[in-house]
Amino acid sequence: MIKKTPPMGFNTWNTFGECFYDHTIREVADALVDRGFKDAGYEYLIIDDHWNMEHRDPVTKRMIERPGKFPNGLQPVIDYVHGKGLKMGIYSCAGVRTCGQKMGSFDYDFLDAKTFAEWGIDYLKHDFCLHPELLSGEMMYRRMGLALRHSGRDILFAACNWGNDDVWSWIRSAGAHTYRSTGDIYDNFKSFVDIFRSQLPKLGSSCPGCQNDLDMMTVGMEGAGNAATGSDFGTEGTYRIQFCVWCMFSSPLILGCDVRSVSDKYRDLLCNRELISINQDPECRPAFPIGLDYNMAFCKLLSNGEYAFLFINPDDNQHGVGFVTHDIGLCEASGYKLHLTDLLSGEELEYSDYVSIPVPPKDCRIFKGKLVK
Ligand code: GLA
Repeated sequence: MIKKTPPMGFNTWNTFGECFYDHTIREVADALVDRGFKDAGYEYLIIDDHWNMEHRDPVTKRMIERPGKFPNGLQPVIDYVHGKGLKMGIYSCAGVRTCGQKMGSFDYDFLDAKTFAEWGIDYLKHDFCLHPELLSGEMMYRRMGLALRHSGRDILFAACNWGNDDVWSWIRSAGAHTYRSTGDIYDNFKSFVDIFRSQLPKLGSSCPGCQNDLDMMTVGMEGAGNAATGSDFGTEGTYRIQFCVWCMFSSPLILGCDVRSVSDKYRDLLCNRELISINQDPECRPAFPIGLDYNMAFCKLLSNGEYAFLFINPDDNQHGVGFVTHDIGLCEASGYKLHLTDLLSGEELEYSDYVSIPVPPKDCRIFKGKLVK
């Protein structure tokens, strides 16, 4: 049974690009367990593009793993990952070739879904490169959705068509559990701010069982790996913004940093139970923008009757980020006040009509709130 809350895991792309091997995947599996990521909820280990050959087996027509990467085949690696209590994810493409020009699933959706099921795959990221332009994305994703549902195994369907063809309007009906609706993330502030701003009109398009995927996180990468763009990588403050936005927006939480070596500081942020509990709230209610600067403060209703609040300061100077409590439906005449607890510092604050939170430059603050008399 596939969980209805956003999936959590690790994907090879941001750190390794095409440079991963049998031993790399085993080391990542070990690190997910030994460094506490699995206990925090990160359960999928996903191998992205470049795991397979440019052709199919001439007789069986099945996809073939690259012998240079997996000299003993992929199966022992899958078994090793499962042996660690983790789930295994793999990558394919709706097109004839993947974005890295390896073999795609076009026309072979049913055979590939069956093959993945037989191998014990638990998650399929399905990309959108090199497909026939005359066919709609909706048709191609519907086809793989059907194939996975009839594969004989619970395989999480992670669609990845980057927001084309108004994907949010049809992807749930195609059976997907998550869907990328943005282009690729890079390890700099502008990249992930552009991503989350572009998703503001689509916040209502996530629901339990199918969430909008803001892409693999770059938190903690600090300029290393395949998603690097130079020295403009994240800081403690901007990585905090990224993780808090991904939590508030109910995005899948897919780690992109090198979990074997990421610093304890970022490991602790990525494993923060309070922040993860906002992301994993079973009702998956969409966050909504509040406040005086429309894009920079968000509220999300939680299933226990409380609220989560995120206040972002994208500027280079410290200032208040605020909202009028009326914007969450709280009027002063109700007699209630809003009681806030800072999830990172523990500070407690109380407001009646207007909230203004001092936020350090290029940083954020995240709270849980409840109404009190
Ligand atoms: C696309 C996807 C990325 C990654 C690469 C691999 O760009 O959006 O997430 O999977 O392909 O080639």
